[in-house]
This record gives sequence, C-alpha cells and structure tokens, in this order.
Amino acid sequence: MSERAYNFSAGPAILPEPVLKQAQKDIWNIFDSGMGVLELSHRGPQFDRILAEAEADCREVGNIPDNYRVLFLQGGATLQTAMIPMSFLPAGETADYFDTGKWASDAIKEAKKFGTVHVAGTTKELKYKRLPTEAETKFSPDAAYCFFVSNNTIYGTQWHNLPKSRAPIVCDMSSDFFCRPHDFTKYAMVYASAQKNIGPSGQAIAVISDEFLANAPEGKLATMLDYKVMAAQESRPNTPNTFAIYLMGQCFKWIKNFGGLRAIEEYNKEKAKIVYDYLDNSKFFIPHAEKQDRSLMNITFKCAKPELDEVFIDQAENAGLKTIAGHRSIGGMRASIYNAFPIEGCRALVKFMKDFESKHG
Ligand SMILES: Cc1ncc(COP(=O)(O)O)c(C=O)c1O
Repeated sequence: MSERAYNFSAGPAILPEPVLKQAQKDIWNIFDSGMGVLELSHRGPQFDRILAEAEADCREVGNIPDNYRVLFLQGGATLQTAMIPMSFLPAGETADYFDTGKWASDAIKEAKKFGTVHVAGTTKELKYKRLPTEAETKFSPDAAYCFFVSNNTIYGTQWHNLPKSRAPIVCDMSSDFFCRPHDFTKYAMVYASAQKNIGPSGQAIAVISDEFLANAPEGKLATMLDYKVMAAQESRPNTPNTFAIYLMGQCFKWIKNFGGLRAIEEYNKEKAKIVYDYLDNSKFFIPHAEKQDRSLMNITFKCAKPELDEVFIDQAENAGLKTIAGHRSIGGMRASIYNAFPIEGCRALVKFMKDFESKHG
C-alpha cells in the first residue's frame, strides 16, 4: 500500500496534498522569517499577512460581496448553533428550522434554549433519507430567520435549491462549504466547520451580511460570543487559532489553483457519479439517500444483507479504503468524498465494491 490511504472520513477529513506539504515547510520556517507558523505572534506582521490573505482568498474564491463579513470563529460549527439564536432570535420572535438530520435537530435543541423554534419541515419519520418537499413545508408568518443544513453529513442528503422562505436564510454549510459555487447574496448568514472541506477541526468560518449582523445585540454578550466584536476586531479579540486560519488560507489557495469553485464542482460531480452509477445498478448495495436529494460529498449505502456491512468495512480497511463505516446512528457505509478526495479513490472504491459483490453476491 502507498504511504497515503484513501481516507473516506466524514471529518476531520482528508486535506489537499499540496496544502499538507506546504504546511510541513511552513511549520519549520514561514516567509523566510526564521520562525514556524505555529510560533508566530497573532499580532505580528507575518500573521497579519496570513489572516489578510486567508480572507482575501476566501472572498475571491467564494465571490463574497463587500457587504458581507468573513469571520474566523472558534468552537467549531456547534458553537454557531448557540451563537445564532443568542444574537438573532429575540424574545417573542420565532425562527424557522428544517429538521433534516442530527446536526439540524441538534441546532433546534440548542435554539430552543434561547427562543421559540418552529419546525418548518422534517423527514425524521423517513430516517432522513430525503429532504422535505415544498408541499411538506410550512413556514411561520414572520420568522426572525430560516435555518437549514445544506448537506446532511450522516444521511448523505444535500439541498440542491434553497428553501423558499421569505425570512433571512441562515445555513449550516459545514459539509459542503466551497464544494460548488454559492450565491451568498441569497443568504443572511452561512457558517461551516472547517474540518471537511477547508481545514482542521475546532474552527468555523462565518459569512454574514452587514444587514443581518446589524440585528445582533450591542455589548450584551460575552466577548467570544459576540459577532459584532468578532467583526470589529478581525476575528481576534483573543489569541485565535492561528494555525487553523493559516491552513484554511492554504485550502483557499489550493481551490484557486484548482480553477475555482466551478472546477471543484465539476470534479466533485465526476467523482460522485462514479460511485452513484455503480450503486444505481446494483441490487447488492442499497443507497440510503433518495436520488433527487443525494449528496456530492457523503455517499451512504448498505449491503442488502445487513450481516455483510461489517465484513465490507473490515475488508475495505485492509485494502486501504479507510474510515468508510457509516455514522453509528444509521450504520452501513459512508464514503465522504470532499474536495480533496482524489478521483482515483472513487474508482478504487467501485472496484472494491464489484469484487466484494462478486464474492458475496
Ligand atoms: C453538517 C454539520 N454540522 C455541524 C457539525 C458539527 O461540527 P463541529 O464538530 O465542528 O462542531 C458537523 C460535524 O460533522 C456537521 O457535519
């Protein structure tokens, strides 16, 4: 087996090879400063440059309008599920939430600690194998915002069109941020944990419109929970996770060199098609997500004979196809094929599936 396996982890996930190689160099000595990236003052000129470039490259890659702030936030995506209702769900108002899986339902639980939540649509009864249809959706009349999770990492479903709410749209894009172009003008706020497509865990990015940010309370929240402080102080009222910001910046540069989000999207579609085409024609493997809503990032499936799932996972591991077990809540298999996952890995997976099917079918 080669030095690097095909890593199907849902996150922390595979990072682009050039990013890891550059990081190895920069940990030793960055910008010929004689200091490694982990050793720089967060207020020094080298980190100023890292932060400025990370933001500029993020804006360029994402075509993020000038009236949106880009924030680098600590506490992963989960902290965002609290910060959002703390800032944008005032007493007496209601927020609409779509319940499309564990991360969405966790966000609902968190929001209920702070205010009133209306579930606009749910597919819980269907084990989240698809998204709610328009006919199954009911918005509340004057929601403070409408929240949804664009890619449901565990179930392998992904929104291919935005929900048609008239309220400001807030989106957890943790597992499909920058997997394709996004029209940020359609959102009041997007956030994502970094550990799938753009960096290490423990870190999040938020893209938030000035208009929506203006609704956050002034000077009432703890410093680290205050979006306005974060925006005013370049995401560094304290010592930020400098290495995470550095790595995110490197991932944005990698996407730029790849040809931008259109090129990434084409690549992601090509990769996913290899696996879905095989799944669609197999009776041996059963996909979890319904076709119209399935994800470019996380492909979920089971063996028709459930006792074979564990055998598949063990043998895949031995064949260098790592971390392909599904989330413990649904079992089966999950192939996470984020931006940095190579197309050769998708071909290797299909070859492995064919061989497995011919042995056990
Ligand atoms: C869609 C989604 N939202 C939120 C989270 C939670 O992220 P974190 O562990 O960074 O808080 C995850 C983690 O896998 C996720 O996939």
